[in-house]
Amino acid sequence: MRARLAADFERFARGLPRDFPAHVREAYGVDLSARYLGAALPHPIGKGSGQLSLNAQQLEADAAAGLAFVVLKTVIAQDEAGAQSMAAWALHETKMTVEQRRSIAGRDGWTVTWKGRGWDRSFEDYLALVRAGGDLTRAGRLLAVPSVKYHLPRLDEPFRDAEYRFTTAQLARAWGEGPLLIEKDFSPTLAGDRLAEEREQILRWLREVPAQVRAAAPGPVRLAMKLMNARFDDDFQLAMVPASSGADALVVFNRLFDAERGVAYGGWDLSDRNLRVLDRLSERPAARPLCGTGNIGSGKMIVAYAKRGCSAVQLHTFFQLPLSEYAAASGSRSERALHQLVFHPVDGLVAGLLDEADAGRLARREGALHFLDLADAHYHG
Ligand SMILES: Cc1cc2nc3c(=O)[nH]c(=O)nc-3n(C[C@H](O)[C@H](O)[C@H](O)COP(=O)(O)O)c2cc1C
Repeated sequence: MRARLAADFERFARGLPRDFPAHVREAYGVDLSARYLGAALPHPIGKGSGQLSLNAQQLEADAAAGLAFVVLKTVIAQDEAGAQSMAAWALHETKMTVEQRRSIAGRDGWTVTWKGRGWDRSFEDYLALVRAGGDLTRAGRLLAVPSVKYHLPRLDEPFRDAEYRFTTAQLARAWGEGPLLIEKDFSPTLAGDRLAEEREQILRWLREVPAQVRAAAPGPVRLAMKLMNARFDDDFQLAMVPASSGADALVVFNRLFDAERGVAYGGWDLSDRNLRVLDRLSERPAARPLCGTGNIGSGKMIVAYAKRGCSAVQLHTFFQLPLSEYAAASGSRSERALHQLVFHPVDGLVAGLLDEADAGRLARREGALHFLDLADAHYHG
């Protein structure tokens, strides 16, 4: 099996099979099926919201590459008149720097340094992107999920319903048939903002935003909340999870904020913190369905998130590395990334699942090892 994996890794460097999850099932008896926001996925690897999901061409390329899902760039909510209480997040900035960052524990990893924030073009342009995403989703080619930054009030203020209502209704109309899937972004720059200085204020947002979104939606909606890494201790980070119980899924957890440089960052500090907090969460029963994010650059890291309850993962930085970092010599970055994440004979997802089985932590069922069993064990004990 391991020799076959090494041979596949070499062979697929020239291109992945069209239906690689089917190949994995047949060749290795490994079922990569995964889940995000109630949707069945052929495998767990998706693209997080950001600069890599800004237009329909990027979505087409990712569908062709075989990604399981893509979260569209975060749009800033507005009311009918175009007013945006979170307008400070609709900032235009194009320059991104992919660089190494050493973690507190002394490990070098990749991070993307960027001063931008949310969607900076017109709301109409965003709706066109949502339309394209809805079509790809219904065609079964790629699950595409819109992402929104809605108004977040201070403790003594009400939520601006008009922004919730107008934005959600427009998204639902652009999306078309079927339940509307939405990610609500609580970003690292929000974590670094004065708005997020008070714990009680953050907890109120998490408790009340799901009801706000549901009340604003003209039809059925499934909501994921992408939680920020707040600038408080692990206990508070942990407390954010039960406070978010009104959401249908949680994305855990967005990048860290470097107050000195005024930028968000990732790398090993991010995965160390996320996995540490998720470890403590594992000791408690039944958290929401989780989707992992943060410094995922190998199949082994996907397994690490899955064992802590994540039934899918979303990456950004790993799709932006210098081409020399991928073993595949051709294809889009998404294809090269998938090749490495799934088939690397030591660090890949298939290798990681076989390792779990060898160690007695994952049992075959119906003739196969199931990726989802890792996350489900977290919920059922
Ligand atoms: C340049 C850049 C822009 C991003 N923009 C958004 C965004 O608009 N909304 C959002 O929810 N997350 C955004 N993210 C966060 C990513 O989706 C992802 O969750 C995070 O970077 C952690 O994953 P990674 O370590 O694989 O990059 C952005 C990340 C980067 C690097």
